[in-house]
Parts: sequence; structure tokens; C-alpha cells
Amino acid sequence: MSNLFRLDGKVALVIGGAGGIGSALSLGMAQYGAKVVVADVLGMDALNAFAAEVAAKTGAETMAHQVDVTNEENMAVLVKDVLARFGVIDILINAFGLNMKRPALEYPMADWEKMFAVNVKGVMIACKHVANAMKERKQGSIINLSSVRGIRGYGGGNSAYCGTKGAVEMITKTLAIELAPFNIRVNALGPALIITQGTIHIQQNPQLAEKYKALIPMGRLGLPEDLVGPAVYLASDAAAFHTGQTLFIDGGATAS
Ligand SMILES: NC(=O)c1ccc[n+]([C@@H]2O[C@H](COP(=O)([O-])OP(=O)(O)OC[C@H]3O[C@@H](n4cnc5c(N)ncnc54)[C@H](OP(=O)(O)O)[C@@H]3O)[C@@H](O)[C@H]2O)c1
Repeated sequence: MSNLFRLDGKVALVIGGAGGIGSALSLGMAQYGAKVVVADVLGMDALNAFAAEVAAKTGAETMAHQVDVTNEENMAVLVKDVLARFGVIDILINAFGLNMKRPALEYPMADWEKMFAVNVKGVMIACKHVANAMKERKQGSIINLSSVRGIRGYGGGNSAYCGTKGAVEMITKTLAIELAPFNIRVNALGPALIITQGTIHIQQNPQLAEKYKALIPMGRLGLPEDLVGPAVYLASDAAAFHTGQTLFIDGGATAS
């Protein structure tokens, strides 16, 4: 019972694993004992350097792999290479994503399609290929990155983003049902604003930061590390009967 939250011996594939949230989750998986594959669209030099940093900090075995989640052949190669190195995949975290904020009345459809290609098609491609690798062992945990914007409408040019995250919500629930017979659990994390490279300008602008904090009962913005505990829980045997749900990590933003 004391090891319920440990991930020793498990293999975690974190896609978008070198991004703002993904890098904290890659490190978190390794800190709790998993072998970690950091996969991202970034160049291999940066990926290798980050995977080496995670290994040095935690003593975990790590591997770096480039992937574009919108490309199904790329994903097939990633899964094949991870299986060749580690034999299994126990945990998939889909921590990639984009937000191209544009006014709805002027939304360029090329940008709309790119958003849906990465945030929605990418999630499905990753889930499909990795779940196929998990199904024979009847064991797996998939964690998608949704958002409070997957269940709430927001202004400020978020029509595509909210649309894609709403889709992630329903893909998560539907795959949870379809993959349950294989004991593959599918859940999501739904963060409120998390301070990363892409959102640091909000923290640095006191007026804007106050506006965002006012939406959060706990009165602060989120940090990538706030997602580590919930991700470890969902990945671990502690969550053995937990599937089809989104954990909103939002300081109480969706409580009202
Ligand atoms: N930060 C927040 O406030 C927040 C709140 C709620 C939900 N989320 C969700 O959490 C997830 C991670 O967000 P984040 O803030 O960590 O974003 P981020 O820092 O931009 O990280 C996302 C990572 O995904 C990679 N990526 C983009 N397109 C890809 C593709 N086609 N194939 C593979 N990797 C790709 C990015 O690479 P490049 O940088 O090279 O493009 C980046 O490394 C996203 O799904 C986001 O919607 C974030």
C-alpha cells in the first residue's frame, strides 16, 4: 500500500515533454521512479540535452525522440523505437498543444486547421498508436491535457482553443469507455492559467495578472509543478479504478 503512488519500473512517454508543462511532468515521472521518454517537435540537440538533465537530476533512464504528433507515420516510428528500447509503454502523457488566439470574425481557417491538427488530431493519433501498444498487456494510463477552457467559454480570441479542448474532453471520455476492456485508463488534467514561457507575459504585467487571479479563488496563478502530483496519481496504481475524468487543477476556478 505504501508504494501506491510510485512509478518504479514503469515507462512513461511524455509527448510535448520538453514544453512548459511537459518538462515538469517529464521530471515528475522520473522523480517518482519511471523511465521517461521525452518526445517533442523540438530539435534533437535540445531534446537530448533535456533528457540528459532529467536523468542527471533523478537517476532515471531517459530517452529523447523527435515527433510531430500530426503525422501518423512519425508516431508509429516513435512507438516502435520506444518499444525497441524499453519493451513496453505504461504511461502516455499528451502534453503538447497550441493556442493561436484570433478574433472569431476574422479567424483564418489555415490557423483553425492547424489548431485542430495539433490539439485534436494529434491527441487521437497518439492515443491510438500507444493504446495499440498497451492493449495486449491489459495495462496503461493515458493522460491528456485539457483546460478549464474545455468546459467554459472564454473571450479574447479563444474560439479555436476552447473548441479543441472541448474535443479533448470528449475524446478522453469516449476512449475511456472503449479502452476500459483493455484496462487502459484515459483521463485528463484541466489546468487554469499555468505560468510557462508562453504565458509569462501575464505574470509580468501586474494589471493582467490581477485580472487572471481574480478568476481563481486561491488567488494565485498556477505553476507547471502544480500538475505533477495529479499526473503522478493518474499514472499510478492509486488511480486503478479512475477513468474517463478530468481533474481540474485550477485553484477552485471551476468550483462555481
Ligand atoms: N500553460 C497554460 O496556461 C495551460 C493551461 C491549460 C492547458 N494547457 C495545455 O497544456 C498543454 C501544454 O501547454 P504548455 O503551456 O506547456 O505549452 P508549451 O510550453 O508551448 O509546450 C507545448 C509543447 O508541445 C510541443 N508541440 C507543439 N506542436 C507539436 C507537434 N505537432 N508535435 C509534437 N509536439 C508539439 C511544443 O513544441 P514547440 O514549442 O517547438 O512548438 C512544446 O514543446 C497544452 O495542451 C495546453 O493547451 C496549458
